[in-house]
Amino acid sequence: MFDLTGKVAIITGGASGIGAAAARMFHDLGASVMIGDIQVDAARDLASELGEKVLVSRLDVTQAADWERVIAETEAAFGPVNVLVNNAGHPGHWKPIADLSLEEYRMVCAINQEGPFLGMKLVLSSMIRAGGGSIVNNSSGYGLVGAANNMDYCASKFAVTGMTKAAAIEYAPLNIRVNSVHAGVVLTPMVKSTMEKLGSDADIFISRMPLNRGADPSEIASVFAFLASDASSFVTGAALPADGGLTAQ
Ligand SMILES: NC(=O)c1ccc[n+]([C@@H]2O[C@H](COP(=O)([O-])OP(=O)(O)OC[C@H]3O[C@@H](n4cnc5c(N)ncnc54)[C@H](O)[C@@H]3O)[C@@H](O)[C@H]2O)c1
Repeated sequence: MFDLTGKVAIITGGASGIGAAAARMFHDLGASVMIGDIQVDAARDLASELGEKVLVSRLDVTQAADWERVIAETEAAFGPVNVLVNNAGHPGHWKPIADLSLEEYRMVCAINQEGPFLGMKLVLSSMIRAGGGSIVNNSSGYGLVGAANNMDYCASKFAVTGMTKAAAIEYAPLNIRVNSVHAGVVLTPMVKSTMEKLGSDADIFISRMPLNRGADPSEIASVFAFLASDASSFVTGAALPADGGLTAQ
């Protein structure tokens, strides 16, 4: 597929779902991988299955001190970081705006929006030492179009779309590319629990996508791999849908 030999990648939220698929794929394509997640035990299980060149460190993406420690640990083990995948996320509360509390709204934005901000800010010095790099921000189809009962999530993911473009322009002279990925429904633990919460209303999310099926997490991980690899060397500032056609309509 793509060659990630020589890449030193931090993948947030790598214990589960899309992030776990990315950790597996990046490892298989030759990268050294640091999985940063609050679910440390699950991440360790994955790392021990994959073997060499995969490490785990506890990372709460909302905490700057965690980021500083994880970046330092990655650099000490593998060398300067040249790939960051901001993937960790919260699904949102799926409530009407009138019922959504400010605390709930802020919590989703703290994880989905402030987390990638801290990552992009704090990885910079390591990427400069690496001579450049690639940052992949996992936004969502709902970072390009809206959905009812989804204001907290849409707010956070639209923010990531804009932050990606701002960072792409600012970091281009440093040879650091920044792109966002916009998935449709991907069959992960996050989506399965959201679908259960929504009951029969959940079918609408699949039917909105012309491909009319949920994606396997590996189908998003392969987009991350493309953006992390030198195959995408002239791609920066892009908002790349991998959404079964959701946002083509
Ligand atoms: N599954 C989908 O349909 C879908 C669609 C579009 C976008 N996304 C995005 O993909 C990303 C991954 O989602 P997923 O579906 O694989 O979900 P998931 O629940 O399987 O995985 C999310 C991971 O993020 C971690 N996480 C949560 N809060 C964290 C924090 N504060 N710090 C560090 N790690 C934290 C969790 O522990 C978990 O391992 C999210 O950003 C999500 O918004 C998912």
